[in-house]
Amino acid sequence: MKFDIAVLPGDGVGPEVVTETVKVLEGLSRLYGHEFELHYGPVGGASIDESGEALTRDTLKMCRRCDAVLLGAVGGPKWDDPLARVRPEDGLLALRKELRLFANLRPVKVHPVLVDSTTLKPEVIRGVDLMVVRELTGGLYFGRPKKRWQTATGRRAVDSMLYAEHEIERILRVGFEVAVKRRKKLVSVDKANVLESSRLWRQIAIELSPQYPEVELEHMLVDACSMRLIQRPTYFDVMVTENTFGDILTDEASMLAGSMGMLPSASLAAVPEVGVRAFGMYEPIHGSAPRRAGQDLANPIATTLSSAMMLRHSFGLEAEAACVEKAIESVLEAGYRTYDIMDEGGIRVGTKEMGSLIVKHLKA
Ligand code: IPM
Ligand code: MG
Repeated sequence: MKFDIAVLPGDGVGPEVVTETVKVLEGLSRLYGHEFELHYGPVGGASIDESGEALTRDTLKMCRRCDAVLLGAVGGPKWDDPLARVRPEDGLLALRKELRLFANLRPVKVHPVLVDSTTLKPEVIRGVDLMVVRELTGGLYFGRPKKRWQTATGRRAVDSMLYAEHEIERILRVGFEVAVKRRKKLVSVDKANVLESSRLWRQIAIELSPQYPEVELEHMLVDACSMRLIQRPTYFDVMVTENTFGDILTDEASMLAGSMGMLPSASLAAVPEVGVRAFGMYEPIHGSAPRRAGQDLANPIATTLSSAMMLRHSFGLEAEAACVEKAIESVLEAGYRTYDIMDEGGIRVGTKEMGSLIVKHLKA
């Protein structure tokens, strides 16, 4: 089969990790006979340098014409001026909003051979296998008013945690649907003791719950949840939460897996269903890591795992997705490590070698 992929390498280590992922996709197409046609475009700082915009109409149009988008990372000190008219992150946020990618899936799985490469105790993280479902196109990131102004008593600024009922309902449905296919335990994370938007969120969760009788629903306040997540991470199966809470909780959750360099993500425009192909954007949860860029250091596993999620959710290629995941497991089991997951006895490799090793371990 033939698939069109929009490839947006972005900034910092983005291009390096994307290059290795493309190598893996090419290896896979040799193995299974698929054709992946790649369409490259700029985004973020790279796009600002070219055209003054973080996301051009051309890049957006190209993404819309493709079956899925593969993205590296955006941002860097070069574009970090707080007074700048446009920031690299604007490109990413515009992509999410324009492509209606409201459902962000961030799986966190601790690989058995990596239990010693985290800062947490092995007995705490062994067996962690959870999924964070993060709302991606609402809340503080996009709500209006959002502005800064001058008053007689000084400067003021406002962001709005605004949610419409349909936005809350569709993301909670994703949470329930994902939970049905897993261990059937859903934790809805909010701050209902303080925030009105959270009280609406909780109420809608309670209203939806009878439609998913097999799923056990629990409500947890976000502060308590952040504590629970490191105290007893195996407690969680699926977690569903709004945009900002999800942003913060997934950085925390990434530390369970040892490194941000291990965690993939899928951003979907529809409730994921087995056998149904949803348009999506796939990116590692890590950022552009400007200080690591250009040194063949970055871990390409998060991006490569993201491409496996693309094969699964956007192309319906379950066996191929599992093949990529299996190859990564084999490479880790063979002891190969990038700097971020290096442990005693590990064999240190760079970005490119890690990519080549994954290709070598692909088996149909
Ligand atoms: C993420 C990132 C982005 C976000 C940034 C780069 C805008 O932190 O994907 O988690 O806050 O959503
Ligand atoms: Mg983040």
